Amino acid sequence: MRLIKIKRILVIGSCGQIGSELVPALREKYGSKNVIATGRRTPPPKSMRESGPFIYLEALNRDALAKVMYEYEINTIYHMASILSATGEKMPQTAWEINMNSLINVLEIGRRYKIERIIWPSSIAAFGPTTPREQTPNDTILQPTTMYGITKVAGELLAEYYFKKFGLDTRSMRLPGIISSETPPGGGTTDYAVEIFYEAIKNKRYTCFVKEDTVLPMMYMPDCIKCMIDLMEADGSKLTRHIYNVTGLSFSAGELATEIKKHIPEFKIEYKPDFRQAIADSWPKTIDDSLAREEWSWNPSYNLTTMTKDMLEKLNKRL
Ligand code: SER
Repeated sequence: MRLIKIKRILVIGSCGQIGSELVPALREKYGSKNVIATGRRTPPPKSMRESGPFIYLEALNRDALAKVMYEYEINTIYHMASILSATGEKMPQTAWEINMNSLINVLEIGRRYKIERIIWPSSIAAFGPTTPREQTPNDTILQPTTMYGITKVAGELLAEYYFKKFGLDTRSMRLPGIISSETPPGGGTTDYAVEIFYEAIKNKRYTCFVKEDTVLPMMYMPDCIKCMIDLMEADGSKLTRHIYNVTGLSFSAGELATEIKKHIPEFKIEYKPDFRQAIADSWPKTIDDSLAREEWSWNPSYNLTTMTKDMLEKLNKRL
């Protein structure tokens, strides 16, 4: 793998579920002072503030973004800030405004400052009920029914447009549900796969908001971080796409509960599907990520057994 010359990386949305673990990983790899963490709503963990530059940044304000680019000589951006699927259904206009306006600002500033690379995650939410649900291919029907999904499809097209029109190197991975122990996700449909661990440890019971047989693609955080860095570093001459399917593992809510019970035998689960069931039912169950595997050696490590064991160990220590 060829290492690109990294000067400065800007992370927008550093305090979110992925950002809070991506920033330390990037700082370790590229040097603390080269990774500028930014946030807007959630206060940063002490360690993030102390380990390198952390600034307040409103990505909806293009001038504020331009100022940071100028002052810190940024040449790579991770744009991680987004309103997720479930929150997006409660406030669709806000989801459109935040997700799309922040993205066009990042692309526009990227173009103006001729930056090297922009990493912006897309999602399995880009797919919809007309998409094949098993082994969903990279190139397929994109007709989502959630506002979050609509912003992901529009964003994919917009990023592609900036590449074709202006030569801006944008790279996206369609992330599945991310499971992690550091920062809980907020407002997504796949959140049950994280909440279940917290509740299993704290209360030995969980009321799940999707049905027992609901299967969705997921990924464990260490694999997600690897994915975010590997695609950024991938040799551009080998890439035939700007948007890649990626997945870690697929399981039903019931299978996850069974796996947790192996460690916590008294754990009880009940199922009370809410509006998020319809969102889950509109997304794929399994993903074909062979293109990512071929072109930039994507290769996740965790399966249901190893992920569950690691999650419980980490959370048991913390909670
Ligand atoms: N985790 C996201 C959500 O549930 C999917 O990308 O909204």
